[in-house]
Amino acid sequence: MCGIIGYLGTREAYPLLIKGLKRLEYRGYDSAGIAVLNGSLSVYKKMGKVAVLEHYASGEKVDGNIGIGHTRWATHGIPSDLNSHPHLSNSGRLAIIHNGIIENYEVLRTELMAEGYVFHSDTDTEVLVNYFESVLLAEPNRAISEVISIALRRVTGSYAIVVLDHQNPDILIAARKGSPIVIGKGAGEFFISSDVNAIVEHTRDIIYPMDGDVIALTKNTIMVRNLEGGQWYVPEIKVVTNAVEELEKGGYASFMLKEINDQPVSIANCLAGRIDINGSRVVLPELDLFFPDINAVKRIIFVACGTSYHASLYAGYLIESMAGIRVQAEYASEFRYRDPVIDGSDLVVAISQSGETADTIAAVELAKQRGAGILSLCNVAGSSIPRLSSATIYLQAGPEIGVASTKAFTTQVTAVLLTTIYLADKKGKLTEERRKELLGGLQAVPELVRQAFALNDQVAAVAKRIKDAPTILFLGRGIGFPVALEGALKLKELSYIHAEGHPAAEMKHGPIALIDAHTPVVFIATQGPLYEKLLSNMQEVKARKGIIIAIVSTGDVRAKELADHCIEIPAVEEALLPIVAAVPLQLLAYHTASLLGHDVDQPRNLAKSVTVE
Ligand code: G6P
Repeated sequence: MCGIIGYLGTREAYPLLIKGLKRLEYRGYDSAGIAVLNGSLSVYKKMGKVAVLEHYASGEKVDGNIGIGHTRWATHGIPSDLNSHPHLSNSGRLAIIHNGIIENYEVLRTELMAEGYVFHSDTDTEVLVNYFESVLLAEPNRAISEVISIALRRVTGSYAIVVLDHQNPDILIAARKGSPIVIGKGAGEFFISSDVNAIVEHTRDIIYPMDGDVIALTKNTIMVRNLEGGQWYVPEIKVVTNAVEELEKGGYASFMLKEINDQPVSIANCLAGRIDINGSRVVLPELDLFFPDINAVKRIIFVACGTSYHASLYAGYLIESMAGIRVQAEYASEFRYRDPVIDGSDLVVAISQSGETADTIAAVELAKQRGAGILSLCNVAGSSIPRLSSATIYLQAGPEIGVASTKAFTTQVTAVLLTTIYLADKKGKLTEERRKELLGGLQAVPELVRQAFALNDQVAAVAKRIKDAPTILFLGRGIGFPVALEGALKLKELSYIHAEGHPAAEMKHGPIALIDAHTPVVFIATQGPLYEKLLSNMQEVKARKGIIIAIVSTGDVRAKELADHCIEIPAVEEALLPIVAAVPLQLLAYHTASLLGHDVDQPRNLAKSVTVE
């Protein structure tokens, strides 16, 4: 949420900042801005996407070798030119970019106003930069890095900030607490960014500051320390191997379409090395740590947000029934505030594509304090959640840039299934035959997903039928329920059509009131233990003239008789259903949004990495 980028070195900062902002735009696109220092500060900021800023600044002379840039997801204050970052202090000496929320900004603002400070925006960030200035004036003999540390000790909330000081034109100061920052080191230059992918084309030497760190950079030096004090030190550099080509659309019209198409490969990558050569065992050494004695783990609690929560719900269904271990799936945002009863006999599993979702991080921190073991299923290496976990199963999906999650979801489901087989095995719950069947099914999935792409035209035709609907229901049972939730989420976030996912049997307890001749109802109605029950639910919708769209297994006859539109997906083992069924649901959301003229990569109001709570 909000992307920040900084550069200091010998190159022109402006083009590097703009390029970086384009890479970070998935984090928010309400406005964008840059400040470059070259004797004087040139500041350009504009409501809208980075392209708008670029157009606005084109023709201007923005030269200088040190600068900062920001792409905003609005928290305090509407999207506007005035509320855009960078923000300047009243004297114009300091410029700041910020990702996060300053919780005590009202108190600080009142104090600053009493001192005579004037505010031009509605943001907490402008308060912060003026607070820095006021501490600077009170402590004129201290170094800027020291002043910022002192000031931040009074600040509550979350932040990743970069500060540019007109009077220290060779220094950038950054700090992080609860929001991510990475630093890239080049030859005589440094980059600061919200994520590695925005700078990896310039350098692969990356520094990951810890939470609570302040970082002082000149073009040849980096010093870090905790903002509470202590010695400055030179941090460790890690070399990353991220492939730059994966950050491009690769000929596709959108990142979303590319990422849908990536799935056969990303699922295969997620499986690679995790099934032994005979196809008969799951190899997940990451898990051995937690299960020297499987019976010591009394309960597994999954914490996650958004799409990752749907993968967690799936985990709940699967692990309980297959491995016989108690499982809870929880919204991280609820879990963290409900004083949960957890102890050392619990294993907490965080599922997160980005590894940076603020609520999931907080849930993990809480569980850790209370003694639970922490495992994570994450996509982004080096992100905060893996760093808080004792072990991480990486999804290996490759960078996911489209805001709506696609390949992260199907690899999360893949990783959950691998974990479940591992656990069921440890519990002695799987016969050799059953294990082989499940693993064989998993290995066939990439090809089945590829086959599901053939549904594209059919799904596009359904999108035409539903695009003007006021509301759409998605219903499923058992493992089909998290799939229904995911289908509804995808559709609403991209098409802005109201959509709800429910367990099909719950329809009668309320959602049925929404059904009339204009209401599409999407059923996840593949062959499985609850198929008959789903057919009855379909009858109930038909009796109310709802438009039935059914995702069914190839060769289905009975659902076909009831449905207005049937989408046949390859028949699979129930545990694999979310992966194969996800494809037509992703395509449905994609086509519906495209027909309505929406930006599928950057849907309204959303951001990919939700780093504020
Ligand atoms: C945002 C994204 C979703 C994602 C959710 C959780 O809402 O738009 O696609 O599922 O955050 O993110 P995480 O990175 O923790 O999986």
